[in-house]
Amino acid sequence: MSIGGWVTGRLGLDRLRAKYLGKPFPVHSTFFLGEIALFCFVVLVGTGMYLALFYEPSAASITGGAGPMPLAYASIVAIDATPFGALVRRMHHWAAQLMIASIVLHLMRIYFTASYKKPREVNWILGLVLLGATIGASFAGYLLPYDQFSVTATAIGYGIARSVPWVGPALADYGFAGAFPSPSSVPRFFAYHVVWAPLALSGLIALHLVILLKQKHTEPAAARAVRAPADAHLIEGVPLWPQQASLMAVLMLVVIAVTAVLSAFLPVHPSAFYGPPQPITPEVKPDWYLLWVYGALRLIPGGLSFRFLGATIGSEAIGAMLVPGILALAIVLVPWLDRGTSSLYYAESPTASPRRLAFGLAVVTLFLALSLAGFGAELGLGVPVLWVITLAAPLLVWWGSYLLAGGRRGAGA
Ligand code: HEM
Repeated sequence: MSIGGWVTGRLGLDRLRAKYLGKPFPVHSTFFLGEIALFCFVVLVGTGMYLALFYEPSAASITGGAGPMPLAYASIVAIDATPFGALVRRMHHWAAQLMIASIVLHLMRIYFTASYKKPREVNWILGLVLLGATIGASFAGYLLPYDQFSVTATAIGYGIARSVPWVGPALADYGFAGAFPSPSSVPRFFAYHVVWAPLALSGLIALHLVILLKQKHTEPAAARAVRAPADAHLIEGVPLWPQQASLMAVLMLVVIAVTAVLSAFLPVHPSAFYGPPQPITPEVKPDWYLLWVYGALRLIPGGLSFRFLGATIGSEAIGAMLVPGILALAIVLVPWLDRGTSSLYYAESPTASPRRLAFGLAVVTLFLALSLAGFGAELGLGVPVLWVITLAAPLLVWWGSYLLAGGRRGAGA
């Protein structure tokens, strides 16, 4: 008996193989978005492990050629100067950007094909937690270069955390290891970024995929048209091993190649250009995926506040907590707000429900309009104009897409 056969027999791998390796996976380009997010995470872990060999998580001041600077900042500048250091650092940044972009597109694929319907509500919510955790992991990484940009951006986050009603100041000081920036902030954020976040993301992704294997994929909508009613229970796709695994290997290599090519030509977060932190803080804008929160803060008048159960809810809490909280709640509740068919085997066409299509496009437009508000000053648009755009654009898109999808003809499930 071969060694492989012996190991297979002893560990009962035959049964595992029969149960899982034959699982059919649909081959459809939009079904690869979740996998792209997964492979970006793999690139992040790989490049992060390399960076951790040279990075110094300390705000202690050292004297370099250009004068005193924090050790963390000096170590990042030194990484950038080594032969592959800048490439690996940029790949880490680009993989983070691509991971969030692919998660957002994956979410939109799930939404517009109604793949959140029974029994997939748990994976919908778990997916949203994954999106939040990925953005949280990215935010924890913001501080690590400890340059002028990072410290200013993290200070904005600290201010927002302090604005949480009732518990904000205590929560912010606990989470940021003292009044920010404190000497303990960098080691604390390093721990969040390299231990807590990867562990949480790995566990959540594993759970997400186990649930997916258990519940099986929705079938691509096109399969319904060509399938005889007697075969409705069949699942179309290629087996996990070896076909799907080969496709995944190719996709993984493509993700590595794309992040490497982007990193070779497009620098991201040039720390030496920003310089070490200074007493005067520059105007910084967050990355694209948080720009909408920044825009919401711009739209809320600075002095606006109201009292609620003994707490003062100020403009910062309204723009960065209340508005995102209401939007997040609406998205969480999507499987329960959709009162169409109660369970789903085939993915639906995006136009099958004009109401769902209109709601989804309106929410996407709202995020875009809020992000635009983040660039209001640069575009020469005043706050009143930005308010009109933020309210009118989603409503127009809602109305237009509802009508175009045939909503008035009574198809509006
Ligand atoms: C780190 C983030 C995420 C990773 C790595 C991930 C990974 C995956 C993968 C590999 C699949 C199977 C392939 C596919 O359908 O694209 C999948 C399916 C699914 N994901 Fe995600 N996902 C993430 C975030 C999300 C988010 C934000 C949502 C929604 C809020 C979500 C909801 C779902 C659902 C409902 C399915 C089943 C789809 C179906 O049966 O057609 N996931 N995910």
